[in-house]
Amino acid sequence: MERDAARADDSGRRLRAPVSATDLAGGPIPGHVACVMDGNGRWAARRGLPRTEGHAAGEAALLDAVEGALELGIPWITMYAFSTENWRRPADEVRYLMGFNESLLMRRRDELHEKGVRIRFAGRRDWRVPKRVLRRMDESIDLTARNRRCTLTMAFNYGGRAEIVDAVRHLVDEGIGADKVTEKAIRSRLYFPDQPDPDLVIRTSGEHRISNFLLWQLAYSELVFDEVLWPDFRRTHLFEAVRHFQQRQRRFGGVQ
Ligand code: IPE
Ligand code: IPE
Ligand code: MG
Repeated sequence: MERDAARADDSGRRLRAPVSATDLAGGPIPGHVACVMDGNGRWAARRGLPRTEGHAAGEAALLDAVEGALELGIPWITMYAFSTENWRRPADEVRYLMGFNESLLMRRRDELHEKGVRIRFAGRRDWRVPKRVLRRMDESIDLTARNRRCTLTMAFNYGGRAEIVDAVRHLVDEGIGADKVTEKAIRSRLYFPDQPDPDLVIRTSGEHRISNFLLWQLAYSELVFDEVLWPDFRRTHLFEAVRHFQQRQRRFGGVQ
């Protein structure tokens, strides 16, 4: 794994000191970082706890990651909290996740607001999302709408395919002719057209897949996979991922 390689010297014995924000000062800081917060269930299972305890433990990781992003001056963060496929999970877990996301907003929105974070939600507001969760989401959006230090987008009941389908539905509803269907036309109908594409995507828990996250927007994102399970993620993991990012050569299909 990349992360393990970064932490060991050539002989594989010594670990480097954790990366800090100041270590990254000389290089480019990604304008948008997106995270697939994965591994909560495995974190809990390893401790003999129910999966839901893993989700609960993920809250501290989320807040520390946001703090780290603020420290680095990253203006856009997107966090994958619930996918359109996560409804396939046992009803108890889904119910827990709905309630947990609602209570997390109630617990954390004031402190995020004080830090200058604008909260938004990307995803479908369909009938399966309980009304009271939608209410908390709207309250959080309203409370933080004028903040500009950083925009935190929670991808909730989000699917990359659903987002593209929704954009195409808009095009059809508007009666856009085939010759007017361009990348720009599709992009401008995504959930947040004002948001730049992620420069860096981090997925935790050692899984090497996208799982329907931001399919349109990830076309040229740098991907970093980390073995750490999400509840153990802290800002130093974010800094380490940014260090990988700084070592990458982005070509966007061109030549160096
Ligand atoms: C990520 O952790 C949280 C959500 C998908 C809501 P998981 O619940 O997927 O944890 P694992 O992958 O089963 O360990
Ligand atoms: C992706 O994780 C979704 C979130 C982190 C919210 P999953 O755990 O649902 O993805 P798969 O099922 O392993 O691909
Ligand atoms: Mg998972």
